[in-house]
Amino acid sequence: MIDMPQRPRRNRRNPVMRAFNRETELSADRFIYPLFLHDGDGSIPIPSMPGCQRHDFESLISEAEGALSDGVNAIVLFPAVEEALKTEDAEESFNPEGLIPRAIRELKERFPELTIVTDVALDPYSSMGHDGLVSADGCILNDETIEVLVKQAVCQARAGADIISPSDMMDGRVGAIRSALDDEGFTEVAILAYTAKYASAFYGPFRDALDSAPRGGDKKTYQMDPANVREAIREVELDEAEGADMIMVKPAGPYLDVISLVRESTALPIAAYQVSGEYAMLKAASERGWLDERSVALESLLGIRRAGADVILTYYARAAARWLAAG
Ligand code: PBG
Repeated sequence: MIDMPQRPRRNRRNPVMRAFNRETELSADRFIYPLFLHDGDGSIPIPSMPGCQRHDFESLISEAEGALSDGVNAIVLFPAVEEALKTEDAEESFNPEGLIPRAIRELKERFPELTIVTDVALDPYSSMGHDGLVSADGCILNDETIEVLVKQAVCQARAGADIISPSDMMDGRVGAIRSALDDEGFTEVAILAYTAKYASAFYGPFRDALDSAPRGGDKKTYQMDPANVREAIREVELDEAEGADMIMVKPAGPYLDVISLVRESTALPIAAYQVSGEYAMLKAASERGWLDERSVALESLLGIRRAGADVILTYYARAAARWLAAG
């Protein structure tokens, strides 16, 4: 017999011991479910995101109802805006009769218990496909953009959004949105800031889903360089000081170190976005039979939680909730 007092395997002996030792839990109340919608009739499948679609109003309502019955209580809405409504000034982003405000009102009327998160950025509404306004010489304008984002945020709050989520990465937008919401009496509406949002190629399928890819240049002057992590801390400090209620790291899987470091540097809840490209990879490999979808999807989500995320935005939200319930 080898003399070995320390045997970590003793704690892995049976399911009861393993449960005692489990350090991280995954549950549906940690999920936010992203949904795409459009103004047409019928739903359109998104080829690079199997299982996801551009919902029409009817299927959006039934998807939200299904999510609630699976235990997923929060959704985030993304609009696929008709080409004719896209402009350089992105005015459609604050049209009270636009797609998003109408969807919020319809959803809230039917499901008051559903928490609705909205995205604040100009890209789906911009003829340039950028999150901000673009100057004649191709620069993304910061302060001018914030004026539009503020109108968009207030418009969404008026429609009944619970959580406003600026994803545009302009400097100072969290503070500006907070004070505009407060001035309008929306002191209860929370801000989930996309704080460390990287200029990532993993957003490809999402941009297909919304036809929102930049039509010139890239997003590197506002989204973060994937090489950086200290810069994330600086963004956290600013968003926290400006009044963010929750902060986000995005993408999630390739940035677990960022999530973990950010966890150490703020007391705020942290959300992580398992983005379209992460979902597409798991889907594609599973469809080929190369990976077991249920196991890898749940493992990827658990990994994001273990890194320090409190909340996960994931296209797997409903499926994962069902898998977890089935045990
Ligand atoms: C745009 C926005 C993007 C995503 C969420 N909001 C794309 C981008 O910044 O180009 C990506 C989400 C995903 O890939 O799932 N403001």
